[in-house]
Amino acid sequence: MVKQLAIAIDGPAAAGKSTVAKRVAHQLGYVYIDTGAMYRALTWCALKKGLNLEEEENIHKLLQACEIQLQMEKEGQHVYVNGQDVTQSIRTQEVTNQVSIVAKHRKVRDVMVRRQQQLAAKRGVVMDGRDIGTHVIPDAEVKIFMIATVEERAERRHQENLEKGFSSDLEELKDEIRRRDEIDSQREVAPLVKADDAVEIDTTSLSIDEVVERIIQVVKNKE
Ligand code: CDP
Ligand code: CDP
Repeated sequence: MVKQLAIAIDGPAAAGKSTVAKRVAHQLGYVYIDTGAMYRALTWCALKKGLNLEEEENIHKLLQACEIQLQMEKEGQHVYVNGQDVTQSIRTQEVTNQVSIVAKHRKVRDVMVRRQQQLAAKRGVVMDGRDIGTHVIPDAEVKIFMIATVEERAERRHQENLEKGFSSDLEELKDEIRRRDEIDSQREVAPLVKADDAVEIDTTSLSIDEVVERIIQVVKNKE
């Protein structure tokens, strides 16, 4: 039997992590785990409760008041807050604009990372995020760091919005992505950084299939 590995995929927003991670998981018969959804769910809950996320004392309240659960269902991962399915609601621009502020707190990361490590313990997982190869699964057999220019990443999000029939402003998206990149890479706890042993893939001018192909090749070399 082929060995079951842990595949860690990190990188900035809209580098293509989740799209590619889902396909890689599907091809290998692995489980895909989107860790960003956990930070988004907590942010959604904070906004619902009107908590100011910059204040440390509110973070404790937030963790007490918002129980986050991930569930793998037939059509993919679902995320729940206190039993309510928020899989769609966590994708709004309002949540996106605030999520990095929630995710920079140590207390938040301690709780989320512990959960993620439990999910990865069985192997046979593709997990994407910002700190998977550096902190969540530092012993992952395969580590990928995906990047792309800000212009390309904003354009991808812009196209996604237009396809969904949402209003979209390319310049605003560039600003939001730049701001989030900065907070995620500069935070004290588990910042977005390439692990020393990660394979970097610049997806700027690659198709989704080409990126998937490269990752499958890295996995094959490890198996
Ligand atoms: O899909 P997109 O790249 O826009 O974001 P995401 O993966 O859903 O992550 C949303 C935010 O959660 C990121 O900008 C980070 O602030 C935070 N995050 C994190 O800190 N660590 C992770 N492992 C995953 C996400
Ligand atoms: O998870 P992350 O935020 O890194 O990115 P994503 O949501 O998977 O991808 C953002 C968008 O870029 C999606 O609409 C993809 O179809 C598109 N895309 C890609 O993922 N990879 C490429 N090589 C080209 C486009």
